[in-house]
Amino acid sequence: MFRIDRNLTADDLGKALRRDVAEGLTSRPKQLPPKWFYDARGSALFEEITQLPEYYPTRAEREILARRVDEIAAAADASALIELGSGSGLKTRLLLDALGRHGGLTRFVPVDVSGDFLAESAEELAGAYPRLDVHAVVGDFEEHLGLLPVSEEGGRQLLAVLGSTIGNQVPDRRAGFLRDIHGALRGGDRLLLGVDLVKDPDRLVAAYDDAQGVTAEFDRNVLSVINTELGADFDPAAFDHVARWNAEQEWIEMRLRARRDQTVHVADLDLTVRFDEGEEMLTEISAKFRQEGISAELDAAGFTLEHWWTDPDGDFAMALARVR
Ligand code: SAH
Ligand code: AVI
Repeated sequence: MFRIDRNLTADDLGKALRRDVAEGLTSRPKQLPPKWFYDARGSALFEEITQLPEYYPTRAEREILARRVDEIAAAADASALIELGSGSGLKTRLLLDALGRHGGLTRFVPVDVSGDFLAESAEELAGAYPRLDVHAVVGDFEEHLGLLPVSEEGGRQLLAVLGSTIGNQVPDRRAGFLRDIHGALRGGDRLLLGVDLVKDPDRLVAAYDDAQGVTAEFDRNVLSVINTELGADFDPAAFDHVARWNAEQEWIEMRLRARRDQTVHVADLDLTVRFDEGEEMLTEISAKFRQEGISAELDAAGFTLEHWWTDPDGDFAMALARVR
C-alpha cells in the first residue's frame, strides 16, 4: 500500500525558499541552507556522490548495516520504521528486510523535502514490499516533525536518520532537532543515527572536493535552483567550489567563491546582490563526530545510547539510542 502526504505544497516550499534566500544573500558572510541543494537534479547528483571513490560515508554505513542489521532489528523490535531524509532509500532496504525477518514490521514512513524524488523512490519501494504500508511524507524535518503520521496501534517505532545528515545542522539546531525527534516518539522507541567520524583532514577534504568535480556541481546546483524557482540570474560557472576543514568546530565547510566581481538579480525578491571577486558564500557544513560528543547530545535530548557500531576502518558509526 502506498500513500504520500505533502506537508510542503509547492507554495510553502516557494515561501520558505524566498525567506531563506532573502536572509542568506543579505547576511554577512552570505549563506544558504543546504536543504535547497535537493531538487531532482541535486538529488541525482547526491546519488552520484555516494558512488565516488573519495566519498566513503555511504559505503561505510552500508557495511555497518550489512553486518549489524539483524542486531539492530532485534534491539529495536519495531513495527514502524520512520526515516528522515530518506533519499533513494537504498540502504533502507537492508533495514526493512531485517525488521521484516524479525517479525513485526508493518509500516514505513519515509520523509524528505525532495518531493518528486521521494514520490518515485517510495513508490518503487512500496512495489518491492507489497505487504508494507508505505506512507511517504514530503516535508521539512526541521519544521514538520509534529505532523508525522504516528502509528495508532501503539507498536514500537524506529526512527532512522542515516548518512550523517544530522551533521548538516549546526550544533544548536541539531540539539533542537534531536529534541523534536524525541517529542515525536514514545518511551521505549528508538533512534538509529548514522554519523561520520572525525578523521584525517586530507581524506575529509577529498570526500567533499572530488577529482571528477561532482561535488562542485552539487554545490553550484543551489544557484540553479534559485535561478529556476526565484527567477535569479546567477551564472553558476562564475563560482568555484571550496571545501575546507574547520579544525576548531570539527566540520567541513562547503563554500561557493565568486571568480570575479559580479551582480546578481533575484527577480522574485526584487533583490540585487553584489559579490566581490574572491567572496565566499557558505552553502553547507558537514560536522564530523566522536562517540563522547554524540552520546552527550543524545543524553541531553532525552535518549540513552544503547549501541555504537563502527565499520572496520573506524570511519563511520551507527548509534542506536532509546527514548527515556
Ligand atoms: N539518507 C540518504 C540520503 C542522504 S542525502 C543516504 O544516507 O544516502 C540528505 C537527504 O535529506 C536528501 O534526500 C535531502 O532531500 C533530505 N533533506 C535535506 N534537508 C532536509 C530537510 N530539512 N527536511 C527534509 N529532508 C531533507
Ligand atoms: C547529506 N549529507 C550528509 C551529505 C554530507 O556528506 O554532508 C551531503 C554532501 N555534501 C557534499 N557531499 C555530500
